Amino acid sequence: MSLAEKIIVVTGAAQGIGAAYARRLVEEGSTVVLADRDGEGAAAAAASLRGPGKAVAHELDVADRAGCQALAARLGDAYGRVDGLVNNAAIFSTIRMKPFWEITDEEWDRTLAVNLRGPWLLVSVLLPLLRASAGASVVNIGSDAVQLGRTGYLHYVAGKGGVHGMTFSMARELGEFGIRVNTLSPGPVYTEVARETVTPAQREAMIAAQALHRPAGPGDMTGTLAFLLGDDSAYLTGQTISVNGGLVHR
Ligand SMILES: NC(=O)c1ccc[n+]([C@@H]2O[C@H](COP(=O)([O-])OP(=O)(O)OC[C@H]3O[C@@H](n4cnc5c(N)ncnc54)[C@H](O)[C@@H]3O)[C@@H](O)[C@H]2O)c1
Repeated sequence: MSLAEKIIVVTGAAQGIGAAYARRLVEEGSTVVLADRDGEGAAAAAASLRGPGKAVAHELDVADRAGCQALAARLGDAYGRVDGLVNNAAIFSTIRMKPFWEITDEEWDRTLAVNLRGPWLLVSVLLPLLRASAGASVVNIGSDAVQLGRTGYLHYVAGKGGVHGMTFSMARELGEFGIRVNTLSPGPVYTEVARETVTPAQREAMIAAQALHRPAGPGDMTGTLAFLLGDDSAYLTGQTISVNGGLVHR
């Protein structure tokens, strides 16, 4: 099955890297469901996409089981299957850096609820539709902040470390259904969205430390995503692919 024939859900697609994933997939001809807590942003992003594929916006909080079930019901009615799921939504650009001992219980719980529980919940709820595909691919978006041991947002790093670990076990539990699960782990990616998780000095230091001395944009992630969702990676599961310009090695 080519990407053009696939039904693919991208969470967190209203802005940033998620919007770039959706753009690439619509260009490939896929039917893409842009699911985001920011329903208006998802609708605007979907309306801006051009290509042979189709873009559909859906408002969703990935931490909310009832919301995930409503998405499953809509997808079941419309398509009867899901061929690709990109667990990209995360609390990220809104994070304010601080020493970990100043993170509040509420910040910890909400970040983990969205960034770690969300991907598990969505795969669990969409499982019947993923099983209905001829060979579904789940891509969990991790972060090389884990291997770098980046400081200032420990709740985020802990959640992404959980995503990396979850992928290994999910791949084994879903292999018998022909469903593949991999992690795409970006290094620092500079999008249209301002954020505090990289200071200007850290940005320059990390670009200098990369093998490729240029900043990454969202378009640097999309080819690897398309590969992981497509049938060219049919024998690839339970893996972590770092896309980081050579900043850190596994
Ligand atoms: N930008 C980077 O440098 C970088 C590096 C490594 C990993 N990542 C990961 O890549 C992904 C995208 O990063 P980005 O820079 O585009 O982030 P971003 O913060 O700009 O975008 C995140 C998107 O997720 C949505 N979202 C947040 N909470 C949600 C929820 N509960 N339910 C549904 N949607 C929700 C937001 O509305 C937003 O559209 C994230 O998983 C992030 O952790 C980013």
